[in-house]
Amino acid sequence: MSTHRVGIVGGDGIGPEVIAEGLKVINAAGVKLETVDYDLGGGRYLKDGTILPDSVLDEWRSLDAIYLGAVGTPGVPPGVIERGLLLKMRFELDLYINQRPFVDTAKGIDFIVIRENTEGTYAGEGGFLRKGTPHEVATQGSVNTRMGVERAIRYAFDLAGSAARRKHLTLVHKTNVLTFSGDLWERAFNEVHAEYAAIATAYNHVDAACIYFVEDPQRYDVIVTDNLFGDILTDLGGAVTGGIGFAASGNLNPARTGPSMFEPVHGSAPDIAGQNKANPTAAILSGALMLDFLGETEAADRVRKACEASMAGEITGSTTSVGDQIAARL
Ligand code: IPM
Ligand code: MN
Repeated sequence: MSTHRVGIVGGDGIGPEVIAEGLKVINAAGVKLETVDYDLGGGRYLKDGTILPDSVLDEWRSLDAIYLGAVGTPGVPPGVIERGLLLKMRFELDLYINQRPFVDTAKGIDFIVIRENTEGTYAGEGGFLRKGTPHEVATQGSVNTRMGVERAIRYAFDLAGSAARRKHLTLVHKTNVLTFSGDLWERAFNEVHAEYAAIATAYNHVDAACIYFVEDPQRYDVIVTDNLFGDILTDLGGAVTGGIGFAASGNLNPARTGPSMFEPVHGSAPDIAGQNKANPTAAILSGALMLDFLGETEAADRVRKACEASMAGEITGSTTSVGDQIAARL
């Protein structure tokens, strides 16, 4: 078995605690990782002002993956770490797919959200005019390139058609109001669909999708949507499938021009940091997504299987105890 080189960013708050359990479980699954630790996040920023140096980014380009806990520390102004670390990572490493699976076996829920991860309102287009005056103007544009939209849609069609899925893809947008970006998304979706005759499709406006997420999430197999809609919908997805403590994500560069990054959807939860209280299941499931991407699909499936008892509420306890119990099932 080959060794995979993985950068570890435990980050802030509960991040390092949950990542330690993820690494424990991956080890128990028999996969060897060669890890390199990086002290980054809000804590590091407060210490010496470092956010994400280009030298670190360059080191990362030769890694196989990055495994991240959570970043965010009280006392750091909003946007500094989000834009300077997480979004910089997504943009610079071209992590153009954010893949977030949601499963609740007891309720028959099993869907994956494919969130476009480098464009939309996240791109940073906009600015202020007359800042601080009564006539202040702030704009925040949504950037949608045909290339960026199409590659996300293609990825979603490929996924929907893969052996494990049910051959159904839903586009979520707001075409009735966002008539420019919505039009581009809809045309790209329909044109790519012509190449995937075996996939059935649907379209939901994002507000309606919020109702379906709560009332009928079983209808979904794979969903593709833009960056901001995907951000909001995936928190809701977590909430309707047992809570954000189980929500995993992969920030993927499917072209493999660099490493992909894997992290739980939840944040750093500073209020419970250092108390061995956080549920590590989302981090462990994010580790399983990493194993999939590293080609260790058999180990990934075993890790997911071992996590089922945790998601069913049969494994509880401290962070380290949940990790131990999941590892013991491998
Ligand atoms: C997420 C987070 C991030 C996002 C923040 C922390 C930048 O909410 O990964 O969903 O908005 O994408
Ligand atoms: Mn989010």
